[in-house]
Amino acid sequence: MSLISESLLMLLIAVPGDLGNQLEAMLDKPTVVHYICYKKTDTYFTLWLNLELLVPVAIDCWIDNIRLIYNQTTHTTSSPPGVDIRVPGFGKTFSVEYLDPSKRSVGMYFFSIVQALVDWGYTRDDDVRGAPYDWRKAPNENKDYFLALQKMIEEMVEKAGEPVVLIAHSMGNLYTLYFLNQQPQAWKDRYIKAFVSLGAPWAGVVKTLRVVISGDNDRIPVISPLRIRSQQRSAVSTNWLFPFVRSWPKDKVFVQTPTANYTVQDYHRLYSDINFEDGWMMQQDTESLVADFTPPGVPVHCLYGVGISTPEAFQYSEKFPDVEPTVLTGEGDGTVNLYSALQCKRWIGKQKQPVTLVELPQNEHVDMLLNVTTVDYIKKVVFSP
Ligand SMILES: *[C@@H]1O[C@H](CO)[C@@H](O)[C@H](O)[C@H]1NC(C)=O
Ligand SMILES: *[C@@H]1O[C@H](CO)[C@@H](O)[C@H](O)[C@H]1NC(C)=O
Ligand SMILES: *[C@@H]1O[C@H](CO)[C@@H](O)[C@H](O)[C@H]1NC(C)=O
Repeated sequence: MSLISESLLMLLIAVPGDLGNQLEAMLDKPTVVHYICYKKTDTYFTLWLNLELLVPVAIDCWIDNIRLIYNQTTHTTSSPPGVDIRVPGFGKTFSVEYLDPSKRSVGMYFFSIVQALVDWGYTRDDDVRGAPYDWRKAPNENKDYFLALQKMIEEMVEKAGEPVVLIAHSMGNLYTLYFLNQQPQAWKDRYIKAFVSLGAPWAGVVKTLRVVISGDNDRIPVISPLRIRSQQRSAVSTNWLFPFVRSWPKDKVFVQTPTANYTVQDYHRLYSDINFEDGWMMQQDTESLVADFTPPGVPVHCLYGVGISTPEAFQYSEKFPDVEPTVLTGEGDGTVNLYSALQCKRWIGKQKQPVTLVELPQNEHVDMLLNVTTVDYIKKVVFSP
């Protein structure tokens, strides 16, 4: 049963967050890190999310395929020799609905939202589309992605005669903001009806500091944090999402060791003390991408979870950085700090389009995508005149 008539047709683009869509790889490598690792494959296989690759030993092969190598001269990253990575399903929804193509519930992502839209009369891959990207990188290295996104939006709008609703989650919101900041106002007025932002880290995420310092396995318990750290450090996006220097109080201590305190002003020293100079360059390359926090220039709805304890500072022993920290927690959705989510408020009165904040009590960062409150809110936005 279709709940909407042709004239009310709206379109939607789901922009995923960090780790938020599938990645595939094809291999023809000169060397491997272990004899059980594949050196060559004839086809692309799922690199993320594929739980079979994350078990002991196999994970070392996986890390050596998914990691990026930073070039300090060009300030760009590339895959290791012989590793070809692609993002499947641009313009389709499968790659953002489930992270794991076998559709195990552990990887359920945008499925509930897409399914609700389909129940209301929309069609997958036609007027509901996904815009997956290489989430290991920041927008400065995803120029083709933004061109493809612009083209897809224009095509959808020309076809339907109605502007699109953008729905983004987590880091996808920063990607969307960056994208909208590049577009002229006339383009946004014509093509974008609204931007529904779910769990946005508008001022970065404190948790990323731990990820880079000592590794973080919280999504996949079988993995040793120190083991996965080398891969996690190599993702430019993780360094991009360090608490934004311009947004947080200058004296707030995020990381404490017996011999040092680190605030947003101490990133250079921090990277140096953990012996990760590439990270400092990645952070510098990306720091300004959205840091001036220019309003998106479209009606924006910021939905954010609260009531879940969220890492807000880390205390390390003298074994820093090769040790798990004591985690001090604060308010947020378990990943995004409330302070970061609330930056959305700064746009009120700074753009002529409405800015709406909606607090979602007891909503965890990823679970909020499955919550009926979120789905109902999206429905309200999509069907509003
Ligand atoms: C970095 O890029 C430059 C310019 O393309 C190249 O000459 C150099 O070999 C690269 N460095 C590494 C370590 O790959
Ligand atoms: C770090 O800050 C705490 C207070 O926040 C202070 O007690 C401690 O002495 C500082 N440590 C260093 C090494 O400066
Ligand atoms: C869904 O969100 C509401 C608040 O918006 C919350 O009260 C409820 O506990 C959430 N439900 C689930 C299943 O997480």
